[in-house]
Amino acid sequence: MSTAELAFVAGATGYTGRSVVRELRAHGVRTVAHVRRESREFERWSTAFRELGSEIDSTPWGAGAFERRFAELRPTHVFALLGTTWARARREARTARGEKPSYQSIDVALTTELVRAAAALAHEPRFVFLSSIGTAPGTRNPYRASRWRIESTVREALDDWTLVRPSFITGPDRDERRLGETLGAATGDAVLALAGLLGARRLRDRYRSIRGTDLARALVRLAFDPTARGRVIHAEELR
Ligand SMILES: NC(=O)c1ccc[n+]([C@@H]2O[C@H](COP(=O)([O-])OP(=O)(O)OC[C@H]3O[C@@H](n4cnc5c(N)ncnc54)[C@H](OP(=O)(O)O)[C@@H]3O)[C@@H](O)[C@H]2O)c1
Repeated sequence: MSTAELAFVAGATGYTGRSVVRELRAHGVRTVAHVRRESREFERWSTAFRELGSEIDSTPWGAGAFERRFAELRPTHVFALLGTTWARARREARTARGEKPSYQSIDVALTTELVRAAAALAHEPRFVFLSSIGTAPGTRNPYRASRWRIESTVREALDDWTLVRPSFITGPDRDERRLGETLGAATGDAVLALAGLLGARRLRDRYRSIRGTDLARALVRLAFDPTARGRVIHAEELR
C-alpha cells in the first residue's frame, strides 16, 4: 500500500464499512468515507472518521453525481458495502415519498451508480463488492437475486473487481439490534462448531458468522492483492 492510493468507501457508516475505514487508515491509506447527508448519524460518523484521518464525502445518490466526483478524486480502490435489509426497507417504506425502498432501489441502483462511475475512469480502480453467501443465478430469494444482479453488472462493466461472499456478518459490537440475525448466527455457529469437531471443517468455515473487524481486515487485504483481481471470494477464504 502506498501514498498514491485512494480508497473510496460507500456504506462507510455500516457495520462492515466503519471497520473498513478504520483498517484502511491503520495502513495509512488515503481514505474517503461516503456519509450521506440523510444518514441518521451524520455528525457522529463524520466526526469519528475525521478523527481516524479519513476525508468525508457526501455526494448525493441518484443524481448521477458520482461520475463527476470520481473524476475529481480518481480513487484507486472502491468498496461497495451498502445495502438495506428487508426489515429496514419495510420500516422506511411507511414514510417514503416516491419509490419505496427495496433491494432493487437501494442495493442494486446505488451500487450500479458506483460501478458506472468507476467504469468511466481512465484508470479503473479495484472494485470490491460485498455480496453474500448463496448468491447464484436463478435464485428465487429476492435478496440473493439482487446480489446476483449486482455481481453481473460488476463483471460486465469492469475488469478489476473482487466479489466477496460472506456468511452472517455480526458481533457484539454491532449497535443495531437484529434479533433474528443474531440468534440465527449464534445457533448456526454452535451447530457448525460441533460439525467442525466431527471433521466437517470446510462446512464450518463456510457458514459460520464473521465479525465486522475480521471481515474488514480480509476486504482490505484482498483489495490490495493483485491475485484477487477477477475473483469471487467465498466465506471460508475470509478467515
Ligand atoms: N449483515 C449480514 O449478515 C450480511 C451478510 C452478507 C452480506 N451482507 C451485505 O453486506 C453489506 C454490508 O452489510 P452490513 O451489515 O455491514 O450493513 P449495515 O450495517 O446494515 O449498513 C448498511 C449501509 O448501507 C447504507 N444504506 C442503507 N440504506 C441506504 C439508503 N437508502 N441510501 C443510501 N445508503 C443506505 C447505510 O447508510 P446509512 O447509515 O446512511 O443509513 C450503511 O452505510 C450489505 O449490502 C449486506 O447486504 C450482509
